[in-house]
Amino acid sequence: MSSTIDPSSIATSTIGGTNYAMLIGGSWREASDGATFAVTNPATGELLSHVPDGGTTEINAAIDAAAEALPNWAATPAPARAAILRRAASLMLERQERLATIMTLEQGKPLNEARGEIVYAASFLNWFAGEAERIYGMTIPATQANKRLLVLRQPVGVCALITPWNFPSAMITRKLGPALAAGCTVIAKPAEQTPLSALELGQLFLEAGLPPGCFNLVTCQDPRSFSELIFADERVRKVSFTGSTEVGKLLIRQSAATVKRLSLELGGNAPFIVFADADLDAAVRGALTSKFRNAGQTCVCANRIFVQRAIYAPFAERFTAQVAALQVGNGLAPETVIGPLIDAQARAKVEQHVADALAAGARLLTGGGPSGASGAGNFWTPTVLADAHASMLVAREETFGPVAPLIAFDDEAEVVAMANHTPFGLAAYVYTRDIGRVWRVAEGLEYGIIGVNDPLPATAQAPFGGVKQSGLGREGGPSGIDEYLEEKYIAMGI
Ligand code: SIN
Repeated sequence: MSSTIDPSSIATSTIGGTNYAMLIGGSWREASDGATFAVTNPATGELLSHVPDGGTTEINAAIDAAAEALPNWAATPAPARAAILRRAASLMLERQERLATIMTLEQGKPLNEARGEIVYAASFLNWFAGEAERIYGMTIPATQANKRLLVLRQPVGVCALITPWNFPSAMITRKLGPALAAGCTVIAKPAEQTPLSALELGQLFLEAGLPPGCFNLVTCQDPRSFSELIFADERVRKVSFTGSTEVGKLLIRQSAATVKRLSLELGGNAPFIVFADADLDAAVRGALTSKFRNAGQTCVCANRIFVQRAIYAPFAERFTAQVAALQVGNGLAPETVIGPLIDAQARAKVEQHVADALAAGARLLTGGGPSGASGAGNFWTPTVLADAHASMLVAREETFGPVAPLIAFDDEAEVVAMANHTPFGLAAYVYTRDIGRVWRVAEGLEYGIIGVNDPLPATAQAPFGGVKQSGLGREGGPSGIDEYLEEKYIAMGI
């Protein structure tokens, strides 16, 4: 790891121009009309940098570059593609301190979490480097003696990746790693709030020896114009998106025109279930980790905490004491564990959810309002609400903030039904020491990811994705690369 660096030197640093630029066809480019937009620090409101506001010209140029680079990259031997991914992963780890600092500056998460995200992001590149080398085909026994049946696995083609602000590095590498490993070329559009981490990744891939045009980065303020152009273009064969279910549904509609493949990682409403037989301290720690990571701004954060009635009071007491001790502040301060929310809109949603719950009878155990640490930032004091119930906004929608509603339950069947009573199905958590219950509950929960006595199940080696309205497809794990491969069946007469 490199030594600690001065954040102010990063805010004014340059790659490819006087400010950050877009990466198209291996070169750094401004928008042709010179348009830019500002990237600000959510903890302070300060300007960090301007980035180009790419429009039709740049988006089309990026598609051209990706389409041109595709034949050579697809034909590059898998071990050579893997070597580039591994070099990029090593560079990420070498630059961990710089990349983490940039992430904290533009996204707000505590520096330690940002450092962890860099390691997590690099792990997708290493995992998919390995998967590149294992893109096996198939031979199938034929009915006739004079026929041979084969299946080849080939890259899907040009892929567009639309990534969110909550994990500015890892959500790119979780898509980019398998895409490049499979032999696809990419146009990525990072979230408007956090483009700098993505642009740093672009630089690092150039240094790792990725040929021009394989990874293009377009920054733009209006995601709609980006998606309209990429969905209309026949050369773009696949779109992978992480973000809200609302936008995901729009992309499904847009994909119909050119029948594009889609991977969608959408919203969640994660239940966190604590049975009376659980290790109470582990459950409290787990709920704290799952709920308050990234200030509650992850799709897999516990959103509804169900606690069996027999231990409801002691759980609430211990949990509240620990939540009240969480330090809120600028992510660069070493003592901070809860950074700012990304913007004023995010804070308004948290405020609305808390007000709705209190009006409907929830009891405030701690927090409940904006934090004094604020200055210009959108800080919210970590909040625990007791006596929450299913009709409240905090239980129906993803709050995406540091608010933990506690809901009491009596038995297993009841809590599984309550947990499944949502259109979403991304992640769920269960704390119990009863092995039979582990199986019954894990099998009964309609979710793509289940953490059993584990608040952090996501890892590069395992499939990540949801059922119901939480998305389509899986990222990570042995099946993650399938999203970027087509099967081609060859029947051969001999
Ligand atoms: C997400 O919030 O979408 C990603 C969370 C994770 O990878 O742990």
